[in-house]
Amino acid sequence: MSTNRYRIDQTSELSEHGSRVVREVNGITVAVLNVEGEYHAISNRCPHVGGPLQKGALTGYADVTDEQDTEKIVECPWHCWRFDVTCGGNIDDSEYKLSTYNVEEQDGELFVVL
Ligand code: FES
Repeated sequence: MSTNRYRIDQTSELSEHGSRVVREVNGITVAVLNVEGEYHAISNRCPHVGGPLQKGALTGYADVTDEQDTEKIVECPWHCWRFDVTCGGNIDDSEYKLSTYNVEEQDGELFVVL
């Protein structure tokens, strides 16, 4: 399967924790968030019934699995389902996983790889 890289924005537009942008990328609405200085790309469409995750709060700590804790949780603004932005894991119901995408940074620009 081939992959393509899509420009999202300048890193300076996402320089602070909690900043985010939403872009249409190859037919997918992708939200890119700065969470504690690292960039994460997720589907902007909540797998429950499509809530806009770019409007979700970053809520901090949760246990995703016994082996992995994370402090990178986004909470859907519609019904409060919580997702780990690093892997898409749903904190409240493991049947509903959020799509995540790789982010690359080069020369002050951010790209999503699909
Ligand atoms: S649409 Fe996201 S929790 Fe319901």
